[in-house]
Amino acid sequence: MTIEIQVTDDLGQTQTLNGEDGNTLMELLRDESSGVDGVCGGCAACGTCHIVVAEEWHSQLPPPGMDEEILLEALNERTDGSRLSCQIRLAPEMSGMALTIVPAEC
Ligand code: FES
Repeated sequence: MTIEIQVTDDLGQTQTLNGEDGNTLMELLRDESSGVDGVCGGCAACGTCHIVVAEEWHSQLPPPGMDEEILLEALNERTDGSRLSCQIRLAPEMSGMALTIVPAEC
């Protein structure tokens, strides 16, 4: 099943990406060249997959695990909806979710 994700980049451009059930959100964003690098490959170690999930979707996602929470705490740009996209595995109930990509902190 295709899962539609509404992605807004740091320039404010929004596009719809189609992901596959079971892949991580980071893989979708990285493979579609949408501004997510995923440097650590999904180990919750780099922060280059930082996104902000639209408020109405916060409760639809599993809460961050300990590794994700530790890294999010270290990010300057953290907000209420901040997540590491590598720690979110796509599922059908996420179809329609909206998010914004946060540029990587260097
Ligand atoms: S890909 Fe490195 S923290 Fe997500």
